Amino acid sequence: MTHLTAVILAAGQGTRMKSGLPKVLHRLSGRPLIDYPLQLAKNLGVDNPVLVVGHQAELLKAELAEWGATFVIQSEQFGTGHALLCAEAACRGVSGTLLLLCGDVPLLRQATLQRLLETHRQRQATVSVLTARVDDPYGYGRIIRNGDQLERIVEEKDATPAEKEIREINSGIYAFSAPEVFEALNGVGRENAQGEYYLTDVVALARAGGQTVCAVLADDAEEIIGINDRLQLAEAGAILRQRINREHLLAGVSLIDPATTYIDSGVTIGPDTIIHPGVHLRGTTRIGTECLLEPGVVITDSQIADRVHVKPGTVIAESEIGADCALGPMAHLRPGTVLQGNNKLGNFVETKKAYLDIKAQASHLTYIGDAEVGKNVNIGCGTITCNYDGVNKHRTIIEDDVFVGSDTQFVAPVRIGRNSLIGAGSTITRDVPPDSLALSRSEQKIIEGWRLRKKQK
Ligand code: UD1
Ligand code: CA
Repeated sequence: MTHLTAVILAAGQGTRMKSGLPKVLHRLSGRPLIDYPLQLAKNLGVDNPVLVVGHQAELLKAELAEWGATFVIQSEQFGTGHALLCAEAACRGVSGTLLLLCGDVPLLRQATLQRLLETHRQRQATVSVLTARVDDPYGYGRIIRNGDQLERIVEEKDATPAEKEIREINSGIYAFSAPEVFEALNGVGRENAQGEYYLTDVVALARAGGQTVCAVLADDAEEIIGINDRLQLAEAGAILRQRINREHLLAGVSLIDPATTYIDSGVTIGPDTIIHPGVHLRGTTRIGTECLLEPGVVITDSQIADRVHVKPGTVIAESEIGADCALGPMAHLRPGTVLQGNNKLGNFVETKKAYLDIKAQASHLTYIGDAEVGKNVNIGCGTITCNYDGVNKHRTIIEDDVFVGSDTQFVAPVRIGRNSLIGAGSTITRDVPPDSLALSRSEQKIIEGWRLRKKQK
């Protein structure tokens, strides 16, 4: 395979987003827009893409550090041709194919790019342009063909009325042969309606030089949609969601209402899992088989094993849930929750950094934080681990087979020995040995006839 280099243009101002955040950091299905071309380049074997950025370059560098990209700054935006020229020094010495991608075109498929690259190589072209046929070509560069040959690309603002009728448009994605493209670019001027250096002018220059120029038509015009404003961002989000949801449906996952099910692109789900409306599965979440996720469940960066039932309104983040658990309604599992399996956490139970061994359960109104809970432990309604003394966090350890009566507070650090029983309403401040009863409530007092006497007065 010949060497492949990728340059991604992302210096545009993104004014129409009306945002303090650079356009390419706005999120689509949980990932910044710029992740999409970066991921495509990576999948195609590019290990050091060149990113042309303008505004807020420092923020972009910080946010995208993990991609190992080379950043090039285009401080003033003189057009797409100028943007690629800014990458010339970073591309010094490269040969083979230079793939040009846009930071704001997130729906492009890998297979389409592969077809562009294959055609480019087979035809030994100097320039290959990815095009699309659209109903409304307004604003795009039009593709001027001469039979099978691509002659040139004309921008909306420079087009004649007849050219404006053309519905085959330039996607702004290209394969170039390097380093020839930079030689051609140095010959591009800015004598056009916008006074910009047009990257598209290299097409006519290559043609004039007798070189081969190809146009590769994308099967699906949807793929080349660029994001300029939040309306387009929302529309692209809906398209991407449809794509993701379709794959899950065909892989055996039931989505009751795909239009209102929000699954990030990296999420995996086992077959025979049923997902109700309003569910959000985010980040690196993995869901097992035969799970049931009821309305309004939000799961972020968590692993859920098989046959887990998550009831309405439950929120789970950075947690591991073993098989056959039942959670919620309205449970809140915060980071570091680990359930070994067959656990039940009921309504208004909150956990954080909590390990619960097999069959441990808390059915109602409870906070379990910085805790280790043994097998078969039953935690009564209204139990609280008091883990924070205002300065430090402390751990509560509850060993196997303990029964915790309702309305108990564990003032950590504290350890409850196995098979003990905590009487309801207790405040536990000292360790409890195994097989004991611990009780800390004051004795009940009864004054008979008190109410009657009070009324008679
Ligand atoms: C360009 C093409 C047009 C094509 C359209 C597809 C030219 C002259 N025209 O239009 O034929 O139909 O893309 O969307 O190339 N950018 C920079 N620096 C600049 C200018 C742009 O980095 O100085 C980046 C933008 O961030 C964006 C991409 O290049 O990612 C395209 O820029 P945009 O202004 O949207 O496209 P046009 O130049 O209008
Ligand atoms: Ca422009």
